[in-house]
Amino acid sequence: MRRPVRRTVTHQEGPTMFGRTPHPSSLAELIPVEPPAVAQAIGLSKIYGSGQATVTALDDVTVDFTRGQLTAIMGPSGSGKSTLMHCMAALDSPTSGRIVIDGVDIAGLNDRALTQLRRDRLGFVFQAYNLIPTLTARENITLPVDIAGRKPDQAWFDTVIDTLSIRDRLSHRPSELSGGQQQRVACARALISRPAIVFADEPTGNLDSRASAEILSFLRRSVDEFGQSIVMVTHDPAAAGYADRVLFLADGRIVGELAHPTAENVLERMKNVELTGGRN
Ligand SMILES: Nc1ncnc2c1ncn2[C@@H]1O[C@H](COP(=O)(O)OP(=O)(O)OP(=O)(O)O)[C@@H](O)[C@H]1O
Ligand SMILES: [Mg+2]
Repeated sequence: MRRPVRRTVTHQEGPTMFGRTPHPSSLAELIPVEPPAVAQAIGLSKIYGSGQATVTALDDVTVDFTRGQLTAIMGPSGSGKSTLMHCMAALDSPTSGRIVIDGVDIAGLNDRALTQLRRDRLGFVFQAYNLIPTLTARENITLPVDIAGRKPDQAWFDTVIDTLSIRDRLSHRPSELSGGQQQRVACARALISRPAIVFADEPTGNLDSRASAEILSFLRRSVDEFGQSIVMVTHDPAAAGYADRVLFLADGRIVGELAHPTAENVLERMKNVELTGGRN
């Protein structure tokens, strides 16, 4: 599998981060440095229900998602993957803990600011596409930009739809598109506003292997060529093999991580997580 070109981010730890030292000793310290984490979960917990029906879907999850990387999240059914995606994308609120998106702690935002953050800095791809049935593919793609009252960047729109090979489907409604085409439209919609980060919950879950490969190649290209940051949930080791890093969840906790994943080493690790709940 093709390995991505990794971009090196110069980064200073501690109080000198972002160059905000009180007494900079060099010009370099005055130049803002983008933090390498585009999104962070800090001590994130999500508890559903109460009393005997309590389910701890996320249990003290702390994780950084690196800017300009494709991160895959894997784990058994019910391990909290969707809950993590929904909390990170501000579609659901955690019971405790913090979420920082592109340097913004979302707990401090009022409804209006949160809506704006979702619209401008976050993209989401649902397993079930979630396209609006009465709108054409083109209208679905430009919806986030239209809602924001902006004009789509035509050059970027062209790049996205040509990379996804959906130009000839733009005037069709979702019911006239194949599953793979609908998911490509959903990916285009997530990317059209150039969000800081895209969360994709099993974007290839309903697709055959050819349609999956097209989506995964597109996600990979968005990272390599456009510097997009993407977090994707998948059950498929081959899909995880497209990522830069795989995180394993079990019982609402991060129980492992793999850099430079391949379909083979992901499969090996998955067996471990499933057999042991990640305890080795
Ligand atoms: N709205 C809800 N109310 C109560 N429990 C919920 C709710 N949503 C999720 N859960 C529970 O939280 C746990 C984590 O669910 P989640 O959907 O995050 O799992 P998942 O890892 O995405 O699973 P899958 O691979 O099947 O999609 C599960 O036990 C689930 O039953
Ligand atoms: Mg899920």
